[in-house]
Amino acid sequence: MAENEKQTRRSFLSRLWMGAGLFLSYGTAAFYGFSFLSPRFRKPQPRRILVASADKLPPGASTTFKDLSGRKIVLVNSGGGFIALSTTCTHLGCTTYWEPEKSHFFCPCHNGYFDVNGNVVSGPPPRPLDKFEVFVDENDNVFVEVKEV
Ligand code: FES
Repeated sequence: MAENEKQTRRSFLSRLWMGAGLFLSYGTAAFYGFSFLSPRFRKPQPRRILVASADKLPPGASTTFKDLSGRKIVLVNSGGGFIALSTTCTHLGCTTYWEPEKSHFFCPCHNGYFDVNGNVVSGPPPRPLDKFEVFVDENDNVFVEVKEV
């Protein structure tokens, strides 16, 4: 009887150690697996890109640059401040062009027009152009806030 109890206790301890070992090894594997995958689930953070010096963009002037994903953005000095808009038309994705003499954006694909703030003036586009936050620092550097990729 005492021998039987010893075997049972030994068997129990053996299973306990085996269970603990499995738990630790699977836990470690799960930790590293989740660490590897977690950047994909991380929410993109906003980033500020230095685009131009304010004195290089007089009223009516514009400059085009690409964000971190390669999307084209145009920065315009409207005379009342800087505005950054996506150049991708919200109708079917053609490229829009800033026309400084008329102070509007034009999409040549289906004659879409947007005002200086990116709002639809006429044509088939269903919504305004995508807009980005603009910041000017104390040294007159103009930054545009975009999402990281
Ligand atoms: S794609 Fe711009 S108006 Fe159709």
